[in-house]
Amino acid sequence: MKKIVVIGSLNMDLITRTDRVPVMGETLSGLSFQTVCGGKGGNQAFAAGRLAGSVTMLGCVGNDVFGQTLIASLESANVDCSHIRVCEGESGTASITVCQGDNSIIIIPGANGKVSIEYIEENLSLIDSADMLILQLEIPLETVEYIIGYAASKNIPVMLNPAPAAALPEQIFKQTSYMIVNETECEFYTGVHITNIEEAKQGITKLLHMGVKTGIVTLGSQGAVYNCADQLFHVPAQKVKAVDSTAAGDTFTAAIAVALLEGSSVHEAMEFATKASAIVVTRMGAQTSIPDRIEIG
Ligand code: RIB
Repeated sequence: MKKIVVIGSLNMDLITRTDRVPVMGETLSGLSFQTVCGGKGGNQAFAAGRLAGSVTMLGCVGNDVFGQTLIASLESANVDCSHIRVCEGESGTASITVCQGDNSIIIIPGANGKVSIEYIEENLSLIDSADMLILQLEIPLETVEYIIGYAASKNIPVMLNPAPAAALPEQIFKQTSYMIVNETECEFYTGVHITNIEEAKQGITKLLHMGVKTGIVTLGSQGAVYNCADQLFHVPAQKVKAVDSTAAGDTFTAAIAVALLEGSSVHEAMEFATKASAIVVTRMGAQTSIPDRIEIG
């Protein structure tokens, strides 16, 4: 079985559900509070594991209860966690407000800030054995740059979900095989304002000029757009009642990687990922909402 290595963040998500977001200085009674395992990297690894991929996670947690729980959750999805480093101090957290099916997030990196180049160097043999690396931007940018440069020198394909959006060196775009962005991130990187399918296609064209080989823009209820060589395609979204979009993009990313490594075409992978992420938005939380292979059908 082909092997995925996810390198990225592990956060405990502190989720408050509310009917309305308070204005600054206001106190409001919310609807509920939950702690759920998350982090973009953790969610992508968890989803790849649930979707029957062979996946190893590289990242750091703190030596606290959150850290133990984050590792246990990934292990429950058959993710190899034996290389996760447990560091002195706190695990990463994400304070998430869910309101009317959408969310806003404040991240405190904690141990995610300790995913250093030195830690990656200790795990280079694992990276060498990967058929695909998946990365996001919730760990230090210098580490992401180092990994992508190393992967390029070894011809290891990189799937980058450059979120949260941050200024990136030009080289990263040239060394990325698959870049998956939502509308806002695509606008940040390309300058193209995206509200519809046509504008998303313009965004992808810009990403390709920047050096990305395959660009994918997710558009929520409008589906997703991708390129195959220089042709652009649209895949519609499934119609569902959205409860919470947390981890939908992470599941989408992981599902594409799993399907591609199983030999699917990009179009087949997009359809599989669309089905997987449609299930995620109908449920609360990050890893609690990620389906397994059987549910996708
Ligand atoms: O993409 C969703 C994730 O972003 C959440 O689980 C949260 O931890 C933040 O990292």
